[in-house]
Amino acid sequence: MTTESKSVSRRGLFGAAGKATLVAGIASSITAPFRSLGGVAWAAETPKTVKKWILAKNVGDDNKLTLDHFKLVEEPMPQIKQGEALVKVILCNIHANTRNLMKAKGSTKVGETDKTNYSFAKVIQSRDKTFKEGDSITCAAGWNTYQTTSSDLSREDVGAGHGAPREFALVEELNGSNSRTAYVFRPVMLKQFTPDVLMDVYGTSGLTAYYGVRECGPIMPRDRIAVSGTTGSVGAMAAQICKARGAYVVGFGGGAERAKWVVDTLKMDKGLDYRAADIDAQLKAAFPDGIDVYIDGTGGPLSEAVAKQMNRDGRYFSYGGAAQIYKDLQPTSSSMAQAKEFGMTDLIEKIIKDRHIKLEAWNQAVWAQDRIEAENKLSQLMNTGKLKAINTVVKGFENIPKGVMSQYDGSNPYGKLQLQYEA
Ligand SMILES: NC(=O)c1ccc[n+]([C@@H]2O[C@H](COP(=O)([O-])OP(=O)(O)OC[C@H]3O[C@@H](n4cnc5c(N)ncnc54)[C@H](OP(=O)(O)O)[C@@H]3O)[C@@H](O)[C@H]2O)c1
Repeated sequence: MTTESKSVSRRGLFGAAGKATLVAGIASSITAPFRSLGGVAWAAETPKTVKKWILAKNVGDDNKLTLDHFKLVEEPMPQIKQGEALVKVILCNIHANTRNLMKAKGSTKVGETDKTNYSFAKVIQSRDKTFKEGDSITCAAGWNTYQTTSSDLSREDVGAGHGAPREFALVEELNGSNSRTAYVFRPVMLKQFTPDVLMDVYGTSGLTAYYGVRECGPIMPRDRIAVSGTTGSVGAMAAQICKARGAYVVGFGGGAERAKWVVDTLKMDKGLDYRAADIDAQLKAAFPDGIDVYIDGTGGPLSEAVAKQMNRDGRYFSYGGAAQIYKDLQPTSSSMAQAKEFGMTDLIEKIIKDRHIKLEAWNQAVWAQDRIEAENKLSQLMNTGKLKAINTVVKGFENIPKGVMSQYDGSNPYGKLQLQYEA
């Protein structure tokens, strides 16, 4: 087995050995990822109990997230019923909205785990029509070592957490699943990429970026592109995909150091500090001929500043509202139009109309039927060195609370924050 993993920086976030390690950086492709994690011997080694982190109390209006909000419990191993599989959770992605889900109105209830984490898991036992013993799958999972899942998310008893289940005929044909999130990875993918890379580049971050750039395309070398949230998970992917098309790409970071990272590490043409007082002037200098494409996962003041400098017939992809989330506001009503929900202001809407800008705003799940196409195209970029995973992995089940907290405590993990359940 060959293993090569390249980290650009290593921060001992939680101190000395034995505590959580947070590895920030770029992970390149790795072969034969899985045998070292136990392989087929797992079924025989399956313990009798499940370890689980549950919500001990809701996050309050002050948005403070501390160790007191988490409690470790041990429960009997669940028995699978017809239509279910027992999985061992290997690694989960933490999403920007996790803290909001822990509030009184959120979906994570006191005494329960957060079931919404998009995860990489190994099937241990199965009575599910799609998932076979030994399969490596993605599914929504909790902060628990084992759990049941199902490829049939129309079942009410399967806590999927990623929106209402829907039928996607094409995915069903490819995957034997009616789920937007539960999916069996193809062997070709497992041979090439480790779980963290699979869940970053081929998880919601890479998929959102791929579909977004595709729908704003074709991206041409002459395009002048701004990508917000570039130090975060989706933005880092989108910026690289645009750069691979030969376009001029400007990214953003919160503070001078993170703006510099956008150039030094992500290799974008420019990195601007979105918090700088003179951001309008900096944008003007970076885009003397205006902006053709804006890929926006943040909304907020930066997006207004960018929109003002967009060219007629431009393209605007709005996929998220990180500015609002990290500004500690409650999420807006889901009845608002999608772009509004992502933080689009009236001024931006007017600019879009007046300048005949094409707007794309959706959840990546609407493109679930195109997953294989996305995997293949993203793999081409990975295998030619034009795209790299940008992820920060916190290792160790005992470190899950600290890992989740690192999303909000100013540690500022680069790219996708992921929790690997075994150290
Ligand atoms: N539509 C979809 O299908 C889809 C899929 C995935 C995610 N999303 C949504 O997209 C958004 C971003 O997700 P993500 O996973 O990429 O988040 P993330 O990894 O947490 O990254 C957040 C990014 O936003 C930047 N940021 C924070 N506050 C900002 C502000 N006030 N102004 C400008 N930039 C700011 C951060 O920069 P610094 O850290 O450098 O300050 C960071 O680059 C979230 O709202 C998420 O829910 C939507």
